[in-house]
Amino acid sequence: PSALTGRHFLKELDFTAQEFRSLVELAAELKAAKKAGAETRRLAGRNIALVFEKTSTRTRCAFEVAAADQGAHTTYLDPSGSQIGHKESVKDTARVLGRMFDAIQYRGHRQGVVEELAAFAGVPVYNGLTDEWHPTQMLADVLTMTEHCDKPLDGIAFAYLGDARYNMGNSYLVTGALLGMDVRIVAPRLLWPDDTIVEVAQRLAAASGARITLTDDVKEGVRGVDFVATDVWVSMGEPKEVWDERIALLGPYAVTMDVLRATGNDDVKFLHCLPAFHDLGTDVGREIHERHGLTELEVTDEVFESEHSVVFDEAENRMHTIKAVLVATLA
Ligand code: CP
Ligand code: NVA
Repeated sequence: PSALTGRHFLKELDFTAQEFRSLVELAAELKAAKKAGAETRRLAGRNIALVFEKTSTRTRCAFEVAAADQGAHTTYLDPSGSQIGHKESVKDTARVLGRMFDAIQYRGHRQGVVEELAAFAGVPVYNGLTDEWHPTQMLADVLTMTEHCDKPLDGIAFAYLGDARYNMGNSYLVTGALLGMDVRIVAPRLLWPDDTIVEVAQRLAAASGARITLTDDVKEGVRGVDFVATDVWVSMGEPKEVWDERIALLGPYAVTMDVLRATGNDDVKFLHCLPAFHDLGTDVGREIHERHGLTELEVTDEVFESEHSVVFDEAENRMHTIKAVLVATLA
């Protein structure tokens, strides 16, 4: 058994830097094995519950394909398909699922729910996104960074622009701090991560040698970075009423070609966990166009479709990295 056998993955800080890096390395090995047609099935006979209280494309598919590749079976519970939190407490649900399944993935609003599941399930629980953290996404982002940059992890610089007071901003800050990276949070002050999270990141940085910058100055924030990342300006579960305020606050933080040029790095790469609002191809996009007159928000279509963009490698890597989590904790 590996050091991670039986472990939960509720937030990045559940793992040491060494453990986090070992998961990224395992993901790279599993990815190479799959591409070579040489994958071995290490999870035959295992059963994994996928509980989603918010919608998903990548995370659900990543868990299902990763599990199937390794010979495990998944059961998907959609936002309306379970009693959790409505007719049955989280604690009772945890104990029921824990009797039938070998592991549980949970996506929902509050971090407290995934922590309560973990406390009572008796099997590994994985956080597939809460309002506070998106830890499996960070494994995919770090794998993607290692694939697109020759430097060692602690030599890589990245800037996250946009709403930094939510899951992605929090996760980037602590992940960069954990791994000793040069991490820049570039956002209006009102949307910086909570002080408690910044303090955690500073403590981690003192140990890892990470450099942490929080700034509201885009030019200063992106100078010299290897990667520019962003996320939607309004997240799942947030009310539509915040759009006006967010657009006003975050307009200057949209990732444009000018922002990429301001890095001074011709080879800079663009990351986005997706889904992204960069055109009118979606219902939400059309609604934003009708209400606010905009056709692109956190990233321009030009950047999204440019050679700088590695967002589909990042999306594919969700599967390989989630597979690494399953193999490391369950095989
Ligand atoms: N990036 C991500 O978590 O995508 P989904 O919401 O589609 O799972
Ligand atoms: N911040 C986004 C991430 C989606 C993967 C959300 O929570 O909706």
